[in-house]
Amino acid sequence: MLQQVRTLRSSSTRRSFLCAGLAAPGVIGASLVAGGSRVAARDEDEITHGDISILRFLSALEILETDLWQQYNELGGIQDAEVPGGSGSKAYTDALVNLDGDMPQYIHDNTEDEFTHFNFINGYLMSKGAKPVNLDRFRTLAGSTAMGAQKIKRLTNLMQLTVDTSWWTRYRSRTKNPDFGDTFPPAIPGLIQGKFPAIPRSDADLTPGTHLQAIANTAAFHFATIEQGGTSLYPALAQRVSNVEVLRILLSIGPTEALHFQVWHDKAGNAPAFAGNEDLQANLIMPEPTVFLSRSFPVCSIVRPTETQGAAMGAVRFLTASGLFTGQSRAFFAELNALATQADLAQRAV
Ligand SMILES: [Fe+2]
Repeated sequence: MLQQVRTLRSSSTRRSFLCAGLAAPGVIGASLVAGGSRVAARDEDEITHGDISILRFLSALEILETDLWQQYNELGGIQDAEVPGGSGSKAYTDALVNLDGDMPQYIHDNTEDEFTHFNFINGYLMSKGAKPVNLDRFRTLAGSTAMGAQKIKRLTNLMQLTVDTSWWTRYRSRTKNPDFGDTFPPAIPGLIQGKFPAIPRSDADLTPGTHLQAIANTAAFHFATIEQGGTSLYPALAQRVSNVEVLRILLSIGPTEALHFQVWHDKAGNAPAFAGNEDLQANLIMPEPTVFLSRSFPVCSIVRPTETQGAAMGAVRFLTASGLFTGQSRAFFAELNALATQADLAQRAV
C-alpha cells in the first residue's frame, strides 16, 4: 500500500486525477491504473477518484432530501427522539391522514432514513480520507411560519413546487422506456402547470379545509416524485462505481429509495384526483414490464430510467425544475453542479 501511494504521488499524470474532494489523496488513489494494468490491491485500496465523486454527489442529494423530509416531518410526521424538531400541525396532519392513516409514521420513517443515508456516506468518505459533504452554508431559505415548524433556515423550498407526476404513467407503460427517449404524460397535469405549496406556508394556509387538503395532496404526489428519483439514481450511478464495497453501498441504499417509492406510489393513489379516472387505476402501483436495453429482448419489469450517462446532472436538472431550490444562491447551484459534474465524469475502472 505504501509503495503504491508513493508511486501515485510521483506521477503528475495520476495526481491530476485527484480532486478537491480528496482530503488525503494518497490514502485513496492507490487503485488507479498503473502502467496500463490494474494495481493488484486489497478491496479497500481500490476506491477510485470516481467512486469518491459519486459518493460525494449522493451525500449532497441525501442532505437535500433530508432537509425536505425534515420539513414534512415537523408539520405532518411524528416528532420524536429519532426525528426531532418541530411540534406538528394537527390540521395538516389530519389532511394527510385523510389519504392514509399511516402517513405520519411513513413520513417519520422516510425522514429518518434520509438522515442515515447522508450520515453514513459522509462517515464512509471520512474513513477513506475523503472530504465529507457539508451544505450548511446554503441553509438560507425561509421555511414555513405555520405553527409546528421550526423557525430555522432551510436548504429546500416546499412552497412553490411544480410536481412532475409522469412517473406514474412511466411505470404503467408496457411499450415505452425513458432510456429509449420516450416521454410520458403526467398523471396529474395540473401539478405541472403551476407552483404549489406542499406544506402550509403559514397558519393562513390551514383554512379552508379544501385548500389545506389540496396542499396535503400535493405533498402526497411530491413524496413519490422524490423517491422515484432516488430509485433511478442509485442504479444509474452504480454502473460507474469501481470498488466493490462502494458498489455495495449504492446497491444497499438504492433499494431503500425504491421501498419508499413503492409506499408513496400506493398512497398517491388515494388522492381524490384518481377517483373515477379509468386511466389511473389507483391500485396499479407495481412496475409494468416494458422494453429494456433493446426492443428485441423480451419485456422486463424494471426500474426506469437507469441510463448512467449524465445521470447526476439529470437529477439536478429534475430537482431544479421542480422548484425545490427556488430562492437558492448562485453559489449553491455552482456547488451542486460541480458535485454532479464530477460524479458524471466518474468511469468504472475495468
Ligand atoms: Fe435517501
